[in-house]
Amino acid sequence: MAPAHIVGWGRYVPERVLTNDDLARTVDTSDEWIRTRTGICERRIADDGETTSSMAVQAAWRALETAGMSPSQLDLIIVATATPDHAFPATACLVQDALGASNAAAFDLSAGCTGFVYALGVAADMVDGRACRSGNGEPGQGGLALVVGAETLSRITDWTDRATCVLFGDGAGAVVLQANDNQGGVLGTVLGADGSGGDLLILPAGGSGEPPSHRTVAERRHYLKMRGREVFRFAVRAMPEAVRDVLHQSGLNAADIDLLIPHQANQRILEVAAKALDLDPERVYSNLDRYGNTSAASIPMALCEAADQGLIQRDDLVVCVGFGAGLTWGASAVRWSAPLPVGPPTVWRRSRYTVLQSYAWLRSLMRRFVRWLFSRGVREES
Ligand code: ACO
Repeated sequence: MAPAHIVGWGRYVPERVLTNDDLARTVDTSDEWIRTRTGICERRIADDGETTSSMAVQAAWRALETAGMSPSQLDLIIVATATPDHAFPATACLVQDALGASNAAAFDLSAGCTGFVYALGVAADMVDGRACRSGNGEPGQGGLALVVGAETLSRITDWTDRATCVLFGDGAGAVVLQANDNQGGVLGTVLGADGSGGDLLILPAGGSGEPPSHRTVAERRHYLKMRGREVFRFAVRAMPEAVRDVLHQSGLNAADIDLLIPHQANQRILEVAAKALDLDPERVYSNLDRYGNTSAASIPMALCEAADQGLIQRDDLVVCVGFGAGLTWGASAVRWSAPLPVGPPTVWRRSRYTVLQSYAWLRSLMRRFVRWLFSRGVREES
């Protein structure tokens, strides 16, 4: 079984910045409270025209460009999200269409803020060739997967609830995974769940359990509800345990970690986890101050940022760890095998991706047109 390697990465954040002072003008809070309790200074908020899929697509194009791959080479697309564009179709299918990834299977994965780690583990197992169709046809190579974490949490945030609205932001991060015979790659993944804590972090209404009604809207049950203190207690226990478990599985220990990429929920949680693992703070990546908690997008966004900043070198041991709604938790140990740093895009590379983007747009348009023509034909015949 060939290991899966991260061969491309990309991220996208909306332009609009919402600062703590902005929030203090609308709810009873302060910059000082938010900074000291969470470490967050500002977050990004999607514009009206932006959605989880549109941000996922931006991140995906960047990841494909870093990998030097075209969408038609993808066998699989997984989008980890708690804020899909729709209950169905899957956001991953919208991404597949927008990329023109004609050979890819596509599905969403819901595991709260642990979604990306879950998706990475599932994709790493699938790209070894058994579940992936093409295997790119090259000897020694398995399939190619795009793993995205993307969220538009601003759409399910109750902007009148100061206990939650200060925490969350929007964004997307993506990696391209390829199975090949090289050394390193995804060494192991551990995943866990405890549904008895499902009510600690929940979007109560809108699903089959509580379908939308005047009452659910009036009672603001389409917004995220969280029992923060309990989630905090769960997080500080679950994160170090998951890291220790995945390291143990790979015959490693915490001293081997070059960079820990934790789910960006609260700076105090990161500090407690670092202490429990006896890690220097500089080996624990944090961008919470700029983006807040972006749920399933937080780990890939942080991973991409760290790679772009040159904080990851070839052969480094990078451990991603998450916890979140479900309750869920998980960690993934990756021996970084892609060459770094990646140079600025050449004119040729830029042009190639501009052509691929235009092709994807045209392909989608043509398919819709043909489907429309066909449906008219069927109507006229009957
Ligand atoms: N501004 C000012 N005061 C506030 C605010 C605010 N924004 N929010 C809460 N307070 C007040 C509370 O009302 C409370 O006041 P009281 O003592 O008079 O009742 C006081 O501050 C303390 O409230 P706590 O909830 O105990 O504050 P805490 O120190 O626990 O911090 C926080 C709250 C930041 C939410 C913390 O509990 C936390 O980070 N929990 C983990 C959350 C998390 O990780 N969530 C993401 C999960 S991942 C996913 O799947 C989405």
